[in-house]
Amino acid sequence: MISKRIQKMVPSVTLAQSEKIAMLKKQGIEVIGFNIGEPDFNTPENIIKKAEEAYRLGYTKYTPAAGMLDLREEICRKFKKDYNLDYTVRDVIVSSGAKQSLTNALMAIVDPEDEVIVPTPCWISYIEMIKLTGGVPVLVEMNEANGFDLALDRIESKITSRTKAVLINSPNNPTGAVYKEKDVKRLGELAVKHNFYIISDEVYEKLVYSGETNCCTAALSQEIKEKTITINGVSKSYAMTGWRIGFAVGPTHVIKAMSDYQGHTTTSPNSPAQYASIEALRNSEEFVQAMKKEFDKRRKYTVKRLNEMEGIDCFEPNGAFYVMPNIKHFYGKKYRDFTINCPADMCDYLLEEARIAVVDGTAFLAPHNIRISYSNSLENIQRGMDRMEEALKNLK
Ligand SMILES: Cc1ncc(COP(=O)(O)O)c(C=O)c1O
Repeated sequence: MISKRIQKMVPSVTLAQSEKIAMLKKQGIEVIGFNIGEPDFNTPENIIKKAEEAYRLGYTKYTPAAGMLDLREEICRKFKKDYNLDYTVRDVIVSSGAKQSLTNALMAIVDPEDEVIVPTPCWISYIEMIKLTGGVPVLVEMNEANGFDLALDRIESKITSRTKAVLINSPNNPTGAVYKEKDVKRLGELAVKHNFYIISDEVYEKLVYSGETNCCTAALSQEIKEKTITINGVSKSYAMTGWRIGFAVGPTHVIKAMSDYQGHTTTSPNSPAQYASIEALRNSEEFVQAMKKEFDKRRKYTVKRLNEMEGIDCFEPNGAFYVMPNIKHFYGKKYRDFTINCPADMCDYLLEEARIAVVDGTAFLAPHNIRISYSNSLENIQRGMDRMEEALKNLK
């Protein structure tokens, strides 16, 4: 018998779609992927070289549970350089991906029945992670008309004596929204006043456009820093999703609890990947800038093309590599055997008729949207948008 804990877990909505895409590809049908949640760039050569060096130098053993000291020192330097924040190695944990850092953080602070507020749309794993701790996810809908900005009044109204944390993500997956500093600061002040933590997932920090920069929650004041656990990693910034290295910085006692938990569940993250991550943090500025420039071009192009399509109204988000148009206009419309009544219908329709893969917004608690990732070549985006435009025109 499977545990109740796992039985309560909602399986990924995108799994069924992945199966359909795989079947089409097997039949030799080209599907253009706008469903991709990772940079389509290769990990830079200098980082790969360091991994090779790591194997030869014998970085092939366990490391301390919280990660190699050299890497943790490099992470401290990163926070000093980027945000003028002071951390010591005792305030840093390296994990097998940001996902594990997030799980560690929730396991460290959330007791059964504790509430964790999550603005939605959101990355769906947050909700399952909170449930696994026995905690209660409190979902608060953000306003699409405001570009899914952080709506502080709505969050504030959900704060109770059981609120243990608010989990925010900016730049955001799936909306691409970048939260305004003044809003994050107000949230920080609420955390100080009501004594809860902010878990600030900043994995897309390097991908902020239009001259804006990432607002690092912990950098807003010393008091807010003491309430903030920052989650980050090398996956999205350095095209290293498969290397599985994430990290967290925060109050020493929270990081210690996270390390104790990680020590028992995983021992330590992959050591050659940790060694190579030092190089990623130290010597990748040129790569990051080039990747960002390319993503920015694709972002502008994608939004322009979407807004030229009748019935689509898509705001231009300033971060990550996602846009999330609303598709309500098409509800009730038909073509051949297809009738569109929800985002899942639209995903099926676009896959079958336009051979493009987009993600159902309900997977992120966006009930009337689809998520389009522009992590694909400009040429493919162009072809994919042509096909989408054609398919939408056929819906009557
Ligand atoms: C918002 C967000 N946080 C965390 C992660 C996980 O990152 P990692 O690959 O480092 O586990 C992702 C990956 O899609 C993400 O979108």
